Amino acid sequence: MAYETITVDISDDIALITLNRPDALNALNPQLLSELADALDAADTNDKARCIILTGSDKAFAAGADITEMADKSFVDVVTNPLFGDSFERIERIQKPIIAAVSGYALGGGCELAMACDFIIASDTAKFGQPEINLGVIAGLGGSQRLTRLVGKSKSMDMHLTGRFMDATEAESAGLVSRVVPAKKLLDEARAAAGKIAEKSQLAVKAAKDVVNRSYETTLSEGIRYEKAVFQSLFATEDQTEGMAAFKEKREAQFRDR
Ligand code: HXC
Repeated sequence: MAYETITVDISDDIALITLNRPDALNALNPQLLSELADALDAADTNDKARCIILTGSDKAFAAGADITEMADKSFVDVVTNPLFGDSFERIERIQKPIIAAVSGYALGGGCELAMACDFIIASDTAKFGQPEINLGVIAGLGGSQRLTRLVGKSKSMDMHLTGRFMDATEAESAGLVSRVVPAKKLLDEARAAAGKIAEKSQLAVKAAKDVVNRSYETTLSEGIRYEKAVFQSLFATEDQTEGMAAFKEKREAQFRDR
């Protein structure tokens, strides 16, 4: 499919999706989020993609929702016609793992998009923030909820109330990103991580993503019960038999996603 605001490359079992509105620092508009949701849906059902990487440019992962396109909207406009339709909800429903590879600015909706991915690998140039307060509004794509769960109330309040940016070092120590790598190596490191995931049983990968995400939605005891049931269900797969046999036989497992 031809996209105008993103590019998609599928190779070596990895779908690399790159946000591509360079003139606006990859600001999110309805077309971009709709194309992104389409591309993610396509990758989710494409056997050639076993892991997805979402990235932007060196200067910006995404500098937020497109302010010029929001500026003239009224309360009635945004209530009757939500800014991005159901695109973000579609992105949140993707079953395959999505790694956000973030360089430069990830602000407002850009930070929220990165947090909606499964984990974030940041370059040492990355800057995260929820600066919507400077525009007289607040986060609108989950930032107040996800950032608070990731970094705790105090730092989240600080970010949302002052609008200040967090650099990569602070983001890593606060738990917002999983690792920080030199800017030049960002895509190599993201590809290496995606390649590791692509080697695993895709049944187990989907299960792992599902149970970790469940921890956001439920109580500890319910989550542990759910994890146990999913763990047990994997004993119905050939990949469990193969994975454990390979360990005993001191060889690499050959998973077949069955
Ligand atoms: C539209 C944007 C943009 C944005 C940057 N640009 N961010 N356009 N929406 N969010 C455009 C600029 O207007 C400029 O276009 C070009 O990109 C380059 O940006 P500069 O500002 O010249 O670059 P620089 O001086 O390096 O500053 C970078 C920056 C700054 C610090 C990231 O651009 C900035 O503060 N951007 C806005 C960040 C923000 O407030 N994000 C939250 C948005 S609200 P021209 O044509 O002048 O060259 C949001 C709500 C989400 O995300 C919830 C929705 C439901």
